[in-house]
Formats: sequence, structure tokens, C-alpha cells
Amino acid sequence: MEKKVALVTGGSKGIGLEAVLRFCSLDYHVITCARCPDTWDATVDKHPILQDVDFQIVDLAQSEQLEKLFETIQKTHKRLDVAVNNASPKLRSKGPITDVPTAYLHETLVHDLWVHVLCMKLELPLMKKGGAIVNVSSVNGIRPTPYAAMYSAAKHGLEGLTRSVALEAIPNGIRVNAVAPGATWTPRWEERKKEHPEIREDVEKLVPIGRFASPAEVVNAIEWLCSEKASYIVGQTLVVDGGISLK
Ligand SMILES: NC(=O)c1ccc[n+]([C@@H]2O[C@H](COP(=O)([O-])OP(=O)(O)OC[C@H]3O[C@@H](n4cnc5c(N)ncnc54)[C@H](OP(=O)(O)O)[C@@H]3O)[C@@H](O)[C@H]2O)c1
Repeated sequence: MEKKVALVTGGSKGIGLEAVLRFCSLDYHVITCARCPDTWDATVDKHPILQDVDFQIVDLAQSEQLEKLFETIQKTHKRLDVAVNNASPKLRSKGPITDVPTAYLHETLVHDLWVHVLCMKLELPLMKKGGAIVNVSSVNGIRPTPYAAMYSAAKHGLEGLTRSVALEAIPNGIRVNAVAPGATWTPRWEERKKEHPEIREDVEKLVPIGRFASPAEVVNAIEWLCSEKASYIVGQTLVVDGGISLK
């Protein structure tokens, strides 16, 4: 039987890497992309199963690079069964909105919303009945987040995009959903720990479950939403946050 094809954007680290590993273990042919090839090479050394992954060096914020990625997918794989829109860079638009440079606000809008708009636009024509898209949103997409307002706005936009496109896609048998992770221990938090050594403990105090999620716990939700077990789930956001959004 022909292998199913999955695209995971931003699969060299964190939640994206875990999703790539998961779909490999489920015997999908996996395509992923990131900007830094060295990170990917080091990751493949650690996980030999990744040798068969179609890794593309792409900056998704550059629309011509994004379009070329989809041309390559069309030429090489001809279809997609699953797409996980996950890529997101280090956030530079932090702080009071009045103080954040306009260029950083725009950068977040592009990376955390516009890129996903273009990805979905190009993923859907490659899918047929049974296809599934999962957008990686955030708890910041379902509640306000002062001092990360643009990120929160972009993720709120992704929530609206998910629900609207879900209704456009479902007549063709393609399901579109989202996951909203809470605090999930990934390299972006490792980076923050260098500046704030106590960050892990400080955040854990705020989370009802008392700890960070592992990337695998978020990917469990992604895998489930892509599976037949979620065959009647359309346009929903599965919140994976240890209870933090209930506070
Ligand atoms: N970790 C959390 O606590 C948390 C909580 C809520 C939501 N989320 C969401 O979960 C997703 C993954 O987060 P994470 O913590 O796993 O992030 P991460 O560890 O920083 O990994 C991000 C991935 O995206 C890639 N990437 C970033 N910008 C890109 C671009 N312009 N083009 C192509 N690839 C790009 C990165 O590779 P390069 O840098 O090499 O490009 C990397 O592979 C994001 O959408 C984030 O908003 C995370």
C-alpha cells in the first residue's frame, strides 16, 4: 500500500520535531521544513529514523520560498494526507504594544498568522477526502495576553481561520482543526531559561497540573485529531494546557 504523506512545518525542534517523529513511527512519508539546516542535521544524528524525512530549508515568511516548498511537494509527492501548521520563531514582539517596534509587530503577524493562511491555501488542493489539517494555536489564542498582544492576536486569528476554513473544506471530506498548547517544554523555553534560570519552577506554580506539558502530550492530541477516531470533529480547538486556561 502507498504510504500516506504528512507535512509538518517547523519540524526541527520542539512540538514540530515530536510530530515528525510520530508520523514517521506511524509509517507516513514525512516532509518538514525549517530555516536552519544545522539544527536539522544534529537532530537526524540523534534520531536515525529521520533520515527518510524530506527536509527542506525554507523560511516560510518569504512567500516565494513557501510557494517553492509546495511546488516541490506537488512534484515529488503529488499529494498530502495530513498537514500540521506549527512553525513559529522566537517571539520578538514582547512588551507593551506602545514600546514594541512596528517591524516586530508585523513580523509576528506574518509568522504566526499569514504564513498559516498561505500554507492552508496551498495544502487544501493537495488533499482529498480523508485529509486532515491541524493548526498549532496556543492558549494565547483563546484568552488575552498582555505584553504579547500581537502573538495573542495572531493566534486568535488562527482560531478564526481554523473554524472558517473547516467549513469550506468539510464538503470535500477534509477536516481542519487546531490544538492549543499551554506551557510546553521545548527549546524556546530552554532559551528563556538562560535569561531566567527560575522560569520553569515559576511557570509550574501557575499551571493547575503543576508542570509543563511534554511535546509528546501535545502531539498525542495532534495525532488523534488527524486519525479516524476524530472523524466527526470539525473546526474545533483541542486545548492541551494542564488547566491553565480555566483560571
Ligand atoms: N512551547 C510552548 O510552550 C507553546 C505554547 C503554546 C503554543 N505553542 C506553539 O507551538 C508551536 C511550536 O512551538 P515550539 O515551542 O515547539 O517551538 P520551537 O521549539 O521554537 O520550534 C519552532 C520550529 O519552527 C521552525 N521555524 C520557525 N520559524 C520558521 C520559519 N519562518 N520558517 C520555517 N520554519 C520556522 C524552527 O526552526 P528554525 O528556527 O530553524 O527555522 C523550529 O523547527 C508554535 O506554533 C507555538 O506558537 C508553543
